[in-house]
Amino acid sequence: MSVVLHDPSGAALPFEAGQFFTLVLRIGKKEIKRAYSASSPSHETNEVRLTIKEVPGGQASPFVVRDLSAGYELEVLGPSGNFTVAKGTKRIILLGGGSGITPLMSIARTLLAKGGGERIDLVFGNRSEKDIIFQADLEKLSAEHGELFKVRHVLEEGSSVASRTGRLDQATVLAELDAIGAFDGDESHFFVCGPLGMMDEAKAALASRGISGSRMKEERFVSLADNQTGAEESTEAQEVGIIILGKKKSIYVRPGQTILEAGLDDGLEMPNSCTVGGCGTCRVKLVSGQVSMAEPNCLDSDERAQGYILACSSKPLSPCVVEVE
Ligand code: FES
Repeated sequence: MSVVLHDPSGAALPFEAGQFFTLVLRIGKKEIKRAYSASSPSHETNEVRLTIKEVPGGQASPFVVRDLSAGYELEVLGPSGNFTVAKGTKRIILLGGGSGITPLMSIARTLLAKGGGERIDLVFGNRSEKDIIFQADLEKLSAEHGELFKVRHVLEEGSSVASRTGRLDQATVLAELDAIGAFDGDESHFFVCGPLGMMDEAKAALASRGISGSRMKEERFVSLADNQTGAEESTEAQEVGIIILGKKKSIYVRPGQTILEAGLDDGLEMPNSCTVGGCGTCRVKLVSGQVSMAEPNCLDSDERAQGYILACSSKPLSPCVVEVE
């Protein structure tokens, strides 16, 4: 379903295609934050459309899908995120899985409406045809823009709309990208958004052809399950040393606060974006001490093994020192 945001004052809501907004939901006595990408084009600033899929048993999406109604006022943070297309990019390859289509849809709608002549290809993986979000809109855009917007569906349960049957694993991603000549020349820029497993496969496929860094962007938070469990809490305030640019400042983190919240309250410049464990912007190194982190979140096993934590999702259980890198 879609949630359409308007500023109650009538002010414009500017954002860049590919960015997301964080909804602050008050459900019963709990405050839950969830980040959702805009699916609408960024030039329509009088409203922002968020497309949200209900996760059965989740904490936030059932509330959003069932209990929000027109006129409901809620706090919204953002826009945030850098999953955006740089000016002058000529060829854009969108690799999406499931509800990971939302920011990709905003990118496609925005660029096609601007008419800058970029060529856009979307490779979109789903279980079956009935799971394809925006199927009719994609067909319409593709029919309107011909060679400038091509869509290829990869479905686990084959159908006549699928260009290939299967999952978006490494081999399938490479086969699809070869089929559209995505690796010809060096103009293609790749944008990946979907479930974590699919994104890992897609990134490995791109890395095998030497694509990374400046030619590849990924958006991780939309793949977080809507069943994040909160971090354990200490019953007393804990002293946390925060090292920024080699200088350490000690702060106290109250019970219930995250390290990021306490740091920002103290005026420290700590990087952050989604504030819900989905983007990795607030990643810091745990130098000493013990924290509890809300799970699941976007840290991968390598980052965890190297001692990284997310300041927005971590509460100290003992005195700690963390370093902003
Ligand atoms: S701010 Fe996004 S993961 Fe912490």
